[in-house]
Amino acid sequence: MLHDITSRYDIEVLMNRFYQKALTDEVIGFYFTEVVQLNMQKHLPIIVDFWENILLDAHYYGRDPMQAHQQLHQKHPFEAAHFDRWIALFTDTVSASFVGPKAEIAKQRAYSIGTVMKMKFIYHHE
Ligand code: HEM
Repeated sequence: MLHDITSRYDIEVLMNRFYQKALTDEVIGFYFTEVVQLNMQKHLPIIVDFWENILLDAHYYGRDPMQAHQQLHQKHPFEAAHFDRWIALFTDTVSASFVGPKAEIAKQRAYSIGTVMKMKFIYHHE
């Protein structure tokens, strides 16, 4: 039976599953493999910190995700479809692996942050 996200280990499991799909995804995979050649050994602890802040009230992540994506956007402009795909992949991965209040928060935050990024990069041209 599926359980909720309650530990850093759970977040590691979730992120490993998410990136397994994202890296080979036909819509967004190239961002991780071509736009940048992401070193997953380095990236995974950072992204796990990010989600541990959100889900388990940790304070490890102190970086600026908007800036990281701004740089990606400059290298290869984002389209709405990229964010829709990212959100769908993330949401599906959470639902396939975990059930409970934290799992719901993870999906809500992915949706809200993804939507903010979409607004910023696609509908506001600076
Ligand atoms: C179109 C959708 C997205 C794509 C293609 C994408 C891709 C990437 C890539 C390639 C990186 C690595 C950048 C680098 O280290 O050079 C990255 C970093 C990151 N992404 Fe995304 N991302 C997307 C949406 C999101 C969303 C919606 C969130 C949050 C809910 C998110 C959270 C993060 C975080 C926290 C980092 C680490 C930034 C840092 O501190 O270095 N991403 N993303």
